[in-house]
Amino acid sequence: MNNSKHILRPGKRNIMPSINVTEPVKLSPHTKTPSASGILKHEDKELNCFAAVPRGAEEFAAAELGLLGISSAKPGKGGVSFITHRKGLYSANLWLRTASRILVQLSQFPCSSPKELYDGTFALPWHDIITPEMTLSVDCSLRDSALTHSGFVALKTKDAVVDRIREAYGRRPNVDTNSPDVRINVHLHKNVCTISLDSSGESLDRRGYRLERNEAPLRETLAATVVALTGWDGSMPLADLMCGSGTIPVEAALLATATPPGLQRRFGFQNWLDFDASLWNNLCEEAKKGIRTLPVGVVSGYDLDSKALSIARKNSAMAGLEGRIHFFHTAMQEFRPDGEKGIIILNPPYGKRLGEEDDLRELYCQIGDVMKKYCRGWTGYVLTGNLELAKYIGLKASRRFVLFNGAIECRLLKYDLY
Ligand SMILES: C[S@@+](CC[C@H](N)C(=O)[O-])C[C@H]1O[C@@H](n2cnc3c(N)ncnc32)[C@H](O)[C@@H]1O
Repeated sequence: MNNSKHILRPGKRNIMPSINVTEPVKLSPHTKTPSASGILKHEDKELNCFAAVPRGAEEFAAAELGLLGISSAKPGKGGVSFITHRKGLYSANLWLRTASRILVQLSQFPCSSPKELYDGTFALPWHDIITPEMTLSVDCSLRDSALTHSGFVALKTKDAVVDRIREAYGRRPNVDTNSPDVRINVHLHKNVCTISLDSSGESLDRRGYRLERNEAPLRETLAATVVALTGWDGSMPLADLMCGSGTIPVEAALLATATPPGLQRRFGFQNWLDFDASLWNNLCEEAKKGIRTLPVGVVSGYDLDSKALSIARKNSAMAGLEGRIHFFHTAMQEFRPDGEKGIIILNPPYGKRLGEEDDLRELYCQIGDVMKKYCRGWTGYVLTGNLELAKYIGLKASRRFVLFNGAIECRLLKYDLY
């Protein structure tokens, strides 16, 4: 067994070798050491960014970046890489509807051992980024690498960061895992370590409008992805027949009114030493000027559960859409569309507990019936995590998109209703 694997076996944290930080650090010949003055300091500095987005939404996120004038976007699996400057970074955080966070890469180096991790991290000019008065946290993800314990990698990275800052100032910053000033992200893949700053801070699906939750709300970013995949642009009605807390109607309305999803929240980059408040304020003011009014009735939500609907109304009011979205306390079975064409979306219960599936078969049959009998000319979309139940809809889907609701693999099924 190689040494690093032995050291990093889960549950054996006390056997990690201690590192004497007063010793001079020897960098691996592959380690790229950015100059202290180079990182993030200038507004025209090129930033290598990565926007994490739900799988299936990568192309849409790349197109959104294109609309922001960022032409370098390369969609990959579960994210989009792009190069931009400070203004583009702020805009991407403000505007991307499907991204959960945007990382700014600081360094990338080969890393197969704790020492390489420590040295590669220590080599960065952390004292230019974090002062002893600020707080920090480190998130880690890893795959196919010699270092296998994410908790250990995060700890080792943190040690190198605070040691470097202590060397410069004689004092070190504290860790705050809840609400840190700076979030550091370390990603190990095939023994290559990427160190980034998380410019978003709290996950971007926390838009700030949802104060209350019902039982199974969709994440805002997933709801935005669903709307994006329907291709809806606000020019025809959109009805969510099982709207719960209203996430899909609210995200649709934000899209149709050109409201930036991040207008009501704070971002990680606002704590950074290089934060340019006037640039940020200008971007927000500019965005507010472009917000359109949603014609009443274009977006609507239906649900059986009056408590869920009351949450949906509150959420839509918090999002600045009070009275613009119609919510109806009506069973999906009673839905009769108004108009010749439009989009229907349903996110029915999946039946996670034993026995629930039996009750839900009938519901899925009825979804098929309503779409087939009453919704000719419209296009139906069903988001479900249960493909067995989906068969009971009894219609042939013309497209299937794979999406993830947390860990649950789902399908967004498209039905052209003739
Ligand atoms: C998975 S939840 C939808 C969550 C929603 N997308 C959100 O983000 O909050 C399913 C919803 O379907 C509703 N529902 C179940 N049967 C229904 C029916 N026959 N008609 C209308 N709504 C129904 C439930 O009350 C529940 O709010």
